[in-house]
Amino acid sequence: MCGIVGYIGFRRADKVAVSALKRLEYRGYDSWGVAVKSNDEIKVYKRVGAIGDVSQFELCEGTISIGHTRWATHGKPSDVNAHPHTDCNGKIAVVHNGIISNFQKLRESLEREGHVFKSETDTEVIPHLIEKFIDSGLDFENAVKETLKHLKGSYAFVALSSTEDKLVACKYKSPLILGIGDNEYFVASDVPAILEYTNRVVYLHDGDTVVLTRDSYEIYKDGKKVNREVEIVPWSVEQAEKGGFEHFMLKEIHETPKVIEDTLLEYVSDEIELDVGFTAGISDVIFVACGTSYHASLIGKYLIEKLDEIPVRVEYASEFNYHNAPLSRSLVIGITQSGETADTLEALRKAQKFGARTLAITNVLGSSVTRIADVILYTRAGPEICVAATKTFIAQLIVLYVIALRLSLLSRSEVNEILADLKLLPEKVRAILDMEDYIRKIAEELANYENMMYIGRGLGYPIALEGALKMKEISYIHAEGYPAGELKHGPFALLGKQTPVVACVLRDETYDTMLGNIKEVKARNSPVVALTDENDSEAEKFVDYVIKVPSTNVLLTPVTYSVVLQLLAYYAARSRGCEIDKPRHLAKSVTVE
Ligand code: AGP
Ligand code: GLU
Repeated sequence: MCGIVGYIGFRRADKVAVSALKRLEYRGYDSWGVAVKSNDEIKVYKRVGAIGDVSQFELCEGTISIGHTRWATHGKPSDVNAHPHTDCNGKIAVVHNGIISNFQKLRESLEREGHVFKSETDTEVIPHLIEKFIDSGLDFENAVKETLKHLKGSYAFVALSSTEDKLVACKYKSPLILGIGDNEYFVASDVPAILEYTNRVVYLHDGDTVVLTRDSYEIYKDGKKVNREVEIVPWSVEQAEKGGFEHFMLKEIHETPKVIEDTLLEYVSDEIELDVGFTAGISDVIFVACGTSYHASLIGKYLIEKLDEIPVRVEYASEFNYHNAPLSRSLVIGITQSGETADTLEALRKAQKFGARTLAITNVLGSSVTRIADVILYTRAGPEICVAATKTFIAQLIVLYVIALRLSLLSRSEVNEILADLKLLPEKVRAILDMEDYIRKIAEELANYENMMYIGRGLGYPIALEGALKMKEISYIHAEGYPAGELKHGPFALLGKQTPVVACVLRDETYDTMLGNIKEVKARNSPVVALTDENDSEAEKFVDYVIKVPSTNVLLTPVTYSVVLQLLAYYAARSRGCEIDKPRHLAKSVTVE
């Protein structure tokens, strides 16, 4: 995946592209590039590495540009493979997000016709096809439209011509938005890229082609002009920036209380306002998701089975794609904060093919998943820039509580009691943020180790899994999450002074067994950090560090404990000098399977 941008207007277009790319780096950052149209020439500047400090970079004073920040899929990160890519004569330049799955065939046939390729990318076939159709007599715009007929796979791309004051951008299965300013237009992979200039946005649909000139835009689909609604993005530029914190991750963790309030506001006033018509007649629920969203799903399973007595199973979206049985009475819930995770999108399509009803929980308005699932429930977390999901995970949990409570078999007063506890969560999280210094000190101790285990039982198990994922992805400490009962079936062999264990102790039916498991771990000399309820005075007697988490209804501990574990991972990573917001080898939205 990668981030793309296109600009046409009156500003220095190289500068617009660079500032937009900096905001898109969360989508990929192995190389970057910009092309500017100047008189009747296209000037291209591209480099391997993150965009970082580009003060020495100066293209030319054009007012039309395209830009790209890359996460390679075809061809290693290098200056040559970086986008923009051009045709033989440098008269067409293209930036692309996605994969052209039939590029090999296209490339071979273009090469036979005399086209000379410079890079190893799939993308490069696009400018060559456009060139070919211009040579055959079409104008630039129609040559792009003709090109689309030959492309398979997924793409959002923007094409620039040296001879026309025009940009043509196309979307199919990769994200693309249109930004509308006064006498200027933008296209970009995502909203933060252009918020500095405009908050008026069109979320383009699959199959859309948008043609931008200096004073107009036109959108086409299936050869016909279409109208799309212009939406006002409620996010401010500040929301999309770091706001004084050292890293986006810490800023985003600190936004959690607000995110809980905003997401609750969306679905709860005096009572829960959620139309659950989509559940009528279902026999079971299947969650499909990846990574952190998969862990949210495991918590969703626990809640729905406990409160609603509906059977639930949770599948990694990438594995669900091998599913082969009818699902005519199933509700399949896809959780994806970005709304762009290819595996999750594909799993939902697959579920629909097998007759399931589909629901998506996402944070991104207009993202691809919103055009696939039958029902969409939004989390209201605002843009999340750090690759590691924090506030969006908590927002997903809030939506899952809302669903589980709405379907619940509990009495009205019992539901209201949990709702009241949910409304107190922002306060509880603020109290955890007040404990940050204490958590930091423990994290700085953990930063000295190379291996860790996270354990929990029942609801504590997915909390442990998510805590371990957070630790490994940003601190590079090898951390594994395990059901506490499983340790003795193998992982015990890894315990010892060099392997600390983080134990998630809940005040529910798992409490006594969990304390027993911790004693077993201590007997094998592993240092233990226990998270437990603030009123618990037992666990601290035999662990090395205890983090007393503000008391709440035990069903809500995934929220409070996860915030603690996010801070623990953050400060361990910081102490190890890791990059944090952009961990190595990862990207924010994974738009390839
Ligand atoms: C979370 O910290 C990770 N970066 C990753 O596991 C992420 O949750 C996963 O890629 C799924 O993303 P999504 O929610 O946008 O679909
Ligand atoms: N497939 C293109 C490349 O490898 C774009 C990368 C992407 O969007 O992930 O350069």
